[in-house]
Amino acid sequence: MTPEQFGSAVLAWYDDHGRKDLPWQRDITPYRVWVSEIMLQQTQVATVLGYYERFMAALPTVQTLAAAPEDEVLHLWTGLGYYSRARNLHKTAKILVAEHAGEFPRSVEALAELPGIGRSTAGAIASIGMGLRAPILDGNVKRVLARYLAEDGHPGEPRAAKRLWEAAERLTPEARVNHYTQAMMDLGATLCTRTRPSCLLCPLASGCRAHLLGRETDYPTPRPR
Ligand code: ADE
Repeated sequence: MTPEQFGSAVLAWYDDHGRKDLPWQRDITPYRVWVSEIMLQQTQVATVLGYYERFMAALPTVQTLAAAPEDEVLHLWTGLGYYSRARNLHKTAKILVAEHAGEFPRSVEALAELPGIGRSTAGAIASIGMGLRAPILDGNVKRVLARYLAEDGHPGEPRAAKRLWEAAERLTPEARVNHYTQAMMDLGATLCTRTRPSCLLCPLASGCRAHLLGRETDYPTPRPR
């Protein structure tokens, strides 16, 4: 599969099967996408839904979040766990207001300098929230690409990570990058699952090296021990 075929296959799958009804997919702004991505980092979609709606109702903008007392932010987070996420969210909102006129910087590099925003989350905010062509490589997408490439290194090893990021970059299309990013996450979450991938339904199966080898569950390569 060429990168063009890869992107087209993923987007066609998104049109038929991708989720399009989640609250953070409505009224898209970088702020709304950012908050959703931080909540979704360690928490399932079904759990995030209620928290997200309450958070947005209470703190609808970067400015309201920056001005809120830390107590209120933590209270809205109570039950989600990993509270450093909430503290970083608050910190980043204050930085955006103090140093960026309350706007998100429009590059992955600048986004990734903000507290709590790693390279993949920066890519998700840039692509879903701003329509910029930026790759992501979260846990789900790592699994999809490690299988597609039959990557033999553990993704935590720098050389393997570099190859996965290069693939993520090369395969990200120019057009509809927001839908592409969402589709890659959904593919990893719903079809390209860890133990029982549904390759018969996968739009990438014809180009997937792990599938062609019949070795889907050997990838991603486990940590060497
Ligand atoms: N996990 C992280 N980001 C996500 C998103 N945008 N949609 C669904 N699950 C996700």
